[in-house]
Amino acid sequence: MKNYIKADEWNIIEDGFDPHLNKISESLFSIGNGRMGQRANFEEAYSGETLQGNYVAGVYYPDKTRVGWWKNGYPEYFAKVLNAANWIGLDIKVDDEVLDLNVCRVSAFKRVLNMKEGTLSRSFTAELKNGKVVRVEAMRFCSIADDELAALHYCISPVNFEGIITITSFIDGDVKNQDANYDEKFWNEVKQQQDSNADYLVLRTKKTEFDVCTAGKSIVLYNGKELSLDVVTKDKYVGRTVNVQIKKGDSVNIYKIVTTLSSQNYEKGQLLAVAELKLGKAVNKGFYKLLKEQVLAWTVKWEESDIIINGDVAAQQAIRFNIFQLNQTYTGKDARLNIGPKGFTGEKYGGSTYWDTEAYCIPFYLSTAPEEVAKNLLVYRYKQLDKAIENGAKLGFIDGAALYPMVTMNGEECHNEWEITFEEIHRNGAIAFAIFNYIRYTGDESYLAQYGLEVLIGVARFWKQRVNWSADKNKFVMLGVTGPNEYENNINNNWYTNKLAAWCLRYTIEASSVVKQIAPKEYKKIVAKTRLEEEKEFSDWTAVADQMYYPYDAKADVFLQQDGFMDKEQILVKDLPAEDRPLNQKWSWDRILRSCYIKQADVLQGMYFFEDDYDLETLRKNFNFYESRTVHESSLSPCVHSILAAKLNDEEKAYEFYLRTARLDLDDYNNDTEDGLHITSMAGTWMSIVEGFAGMRVRNGQLVFNPFVPKAWNYFSFSIGFRGVQLKVKITADQVRIINGSNQILEITIFNQSYTFPSGEKAITYNEQLV
Ligand code: BGC
Repeated sequence: MKNYIKADEWNIIEDGFDPHLNKISESLFSIGNGRMGQRANFEEAYSGETLQGNYVAGVYYPDKTRVGWWKNGYPEYFAKVLNAANWIGLDIKVDDEVLDLNVCRVSAFKRVLNMKEGTLSRSFTAELKNGKVVRVEAMRFCSIADDELAALHYCISPVNFEGIITITSFIDGDVKNQDANYDEKFWNEVKQQQDSNADYLVLRTKKTEFDVCTAGKSIVLYNGKELSLDVVTKDKYVGRTVNVQIKKGDSVNIYKIVTTLSSQNYEKGQLLAVAELKLGKAVNKGFYKLLKEQVLAWTVKWEESDIIINGDVAAQQAIRFNIFQLNQTYTGKDARLNIGPKGFTGEKYGGSTYWDTEAYCIPFYLSTAPEEVAKNLLVYRYKQLDKAIENGAKLGFIDGAALYPMVTMNGEECHNEWEITFEEIHRNGAIAFAIFNYIRYTGDESYLAQYGLEVLIGVARFWKQRVNWSADKNKFVMLGVTGPNEYENNINNNWYTNKLAAWCLRYTIEASSVVKQIAPKEYKKIVAKTRLEEEKEFSDWTAVADQMYYPYDAKADVFLQQDGFMDKEQILVKDLPAEDRPLNQKWSWDRILRSCYIKQADVLQGMYFFEDDYDLETLRKNFNFYESRTVHESSLSPCVHSILAAKLNDEEKAYEFYLRTARLDLDDYNNDTEDGLHITSMAGTWMSIVEGFAGMRVRNGQLVFNPFVPKAWNYFSFSIGFRGVQLKVKITADQVRIINGSNQILEITIFNQSYTFPSGEKAITYNEQLV
């Protein structure tokens, strides 16, 4: 755990330079715009510890699988989002000595991520070995107004000398991924071009053959005059250089405007021409106009998604950091893109899509962005349905049974641990649940006819084939699975997976009847396309759902995570020696597997999804039982526990779990922020406040709140969009105050009582009785 980030409501601030923290800061201060993302690497050379990272969404490399022992069905490759051409590069020399903060004496170092405006600034004073001291002020951003643009400004001033500062501004495509399986470089050069205006570099990924054009215009000003720059060319590298004879008290200003375009969106042959046009326009606007557009675009984002926490600056900073990073990672403009667990902030998890999106991220985007944003996350899976059916077929499933991958970039499975790839099949259920969740929130049933039902049919067929009849139990059972708790593998009858499977089967039948009713023509088409044998398949699915086996322990009166769970030695987490934790670093995998310790919500994930199926007493018993055995070693774990604790009116516990997710990265809670940020669990932090503390739900098409304010806060408020209405909800200790930004009258339930909210502001005061 670290504590070096200064508390501030709108900014993430690092004061002072500590090279040991540099990789953590590179993650924390990352910037992005949904299409590209850049770690907070320095513009100038740095010979210290660093993870260079600049990623272009959807551009990946299929790195050949590396496993000890090959198993049939393993994917051939692990997809990874690539470290792309370095567009921020500036080499600075002061009287021939390289400016490198690793070897300089650095003072007055400050890094600021301005979340309100979407900019990263850095300033420092550096004394080089030659005794020359320079002051640098830099700022950059990835434009969210135009997600193919980025810009930087770098101002350097001599403090104690007159001499020559050499500036080389470049785009360098000779980059690597640290996680390359075979230490290979993934890019080939296609073309470079340098004309009087700008520098262009077109690179092509090996195997996947994505072309990416990075083009930049560098402007160097001295005393307000633009200097002419000399061209520098190397393999996979285009640059410009100039020597500036500089006087004390003067400054050189460097502006660099860059466009990154990929062949996902343009014909390969057109990339250069489009880049020229695009860059030309951006350069005409200039850095400050682009910055203004950036600030405006972020104002709109914050209007839609801000949460205000009054009375606790650290909490305020944390929630804004989470929201900021989520908005930087996914903007919902392109249904081919998704949300990697680390977003664009590191290489871990390969930038690929996990069940995290459906189980954790959907609620955030549903409430804080226009409807198409969450919808595009669902459409992403629709587009990959054929691949999911292929994936199922590879494992022996037939007749259109779809098994979505655990980890994917293009619909193909690319994870290669058998116990996860083949067995962590609950992800299929989360994808179905997300469709349900989207429709519950938006009321948009037409989605089923358009896309959803086909996915559900594929998923239902998979579950039907994945279970088998147990003559012994006289029930359907599901053998050899891994639940969300990855500290158990190859188990039988994971309660959560069985529950989810049965629910999917029923929901698919229900969804079919909705489509049949609201869109009979589309229904016929879907039946024909999927070769659905309604009568037979529905009856098979109903039989499985009705006769599913759910492990239960009568003595503890809890749902059992899986068969045999009670055979394990039941020592609670609180009785574990502190030095044994985290278990995944201190214990052998063998010991973990045999223990009763749970990595993340498993039974409780099911009780979170299907809360209306259980009374509070049942929830309480299961919560107490499982939470006391949970080590929360996945960042996705605390949020679900926080929401359930809030539901159980255990405000302190709800807050305690919230704290574990909210500043997870800012305080480097798990000692791994340097690998990248936990983007998908950030959506869980948002859920802890909105679904947990505010108790927001959608029931029968209406919003419901059961709120409380954590003791450490005075009040909190948040913005949400709901069915075309923009709302601001403020929760104080005894009031819910809602501003309805539309002309529609909304019915909202607060503590079981329904109220009408016309346009404008209205407050409902509640007291103990009402609660
Ligand atoms: C969790 C998974 C999750 C993955 C990516 C793992 O540690 O156990 O549930 O999908 O991280 O976030």
